[in-house]
Amino acid sequence: MQIISDPKELQLLMLNLKAEGKTIGFVPTMGNLHEGHLSLIELSKNKADVTVCSIFVNPLQFGQGEDLSSYPRTLKLDIQKLSAISTDYLFTPSEKDIYPLGKEIHTHVIANRLTEYLCGKSRPTHFQGVTTVVNILFNIVQPNYAFFGKKDYQQYKIISNMVNDLRIPVEVIGGEIVRESNGLAMSSRNGYLTDKEKQEAAILRQVILQAAEQIKQNQRSFDDIIQQSINTLSHSGFKVDYFEIIRQSDLHPADRDDSDLLIAVAGWMGQPRLIDNIEI
Ligand code: PAJ
Repeated sequence: MQIISDPKELQLLMLNLKAEGKTIGFVPTMGNLHEGHLSLIELSKNKADVTVCSIFVNPLQFGQGEDLSSYPRTLKLDIQKLSAISTDYLFTPSEKDIYPLGKEIHTHVIANRLTEYLCGKSRPTHFQGVTTVVNILFNIVQPNYAFFGKKDYQQYKIISNMVNDLRIPVEVIGGEIVRESNGLAMSSRNGYLTDKEKQEAAILRQVILQAAEQIKQNQRSFDDIIQQSINTLSHSGFKVDYFEIIRQSDLHPADRDDSDLLIAVAGWMGQPRLIDNIEI
């Protein structure tokens, strides 16, 4: 695996590979890699000739009081994991490489209104930080395919829309959620949980599955299902941020006539804010 931190060097390399007719698959990450990230690398390896992973803890997507300074940085281990599955390139830019003039005066990419729902309510500047950095990374890597996990469903949707709206020549591909053995969605932030909290957090998945089952049985109103789910989570030590039944297409609250639904939930378990969802 070749490790490159200079954006110009990587951009030139990718241009040359594409001129040779090679296709590029790209997996952007913030590091502290786990099986969820690695599953996206595998998707890319199956689809593209060359796979690039980036590790950059993007300051622009962290709000005031969020965990930018304590976000787990485990580059050595990450390199071992990526090498072990034969990733072709790892891009590890510095903050100055990505925001040479400083992140405050950098050009921002403001995505559409999907950024205002769900996680956007409690993290109002988060998605703008994501769309800005993903644009920069796309322009450096120039991938044919880019892979995003559906664990961050809203992020996946916002980036898919951005690519369509701005005619960015990248195909965005969603990867399924990878879970711990107890059902908890893998996340770099799970490292903040104590062993006890980790066990307790498994309730998130159970409540979503139960709600999904109730929707399929079609006996209770969505409002009832939502309220009952919030109550169960609150009694299990979660501080619920949201629990919503929405349409996959536009993330709007769904009703019984809609098909292709998503149950999306976010909440705090101890220190970390956890998210999860299921497509129905
Ligand atoms: P990060 O949280 O490191 O996640 C990188 C990618 O891995 C994202 O597409 C995320 O959805 C995916 N991922 C995380 N946990 C997963 C799981 N359990 N199963 C499947 N996929 C999972 O998301 C970001 O970084 C950043 O916002 C980024 C897109 C890199 C922009 O800075």
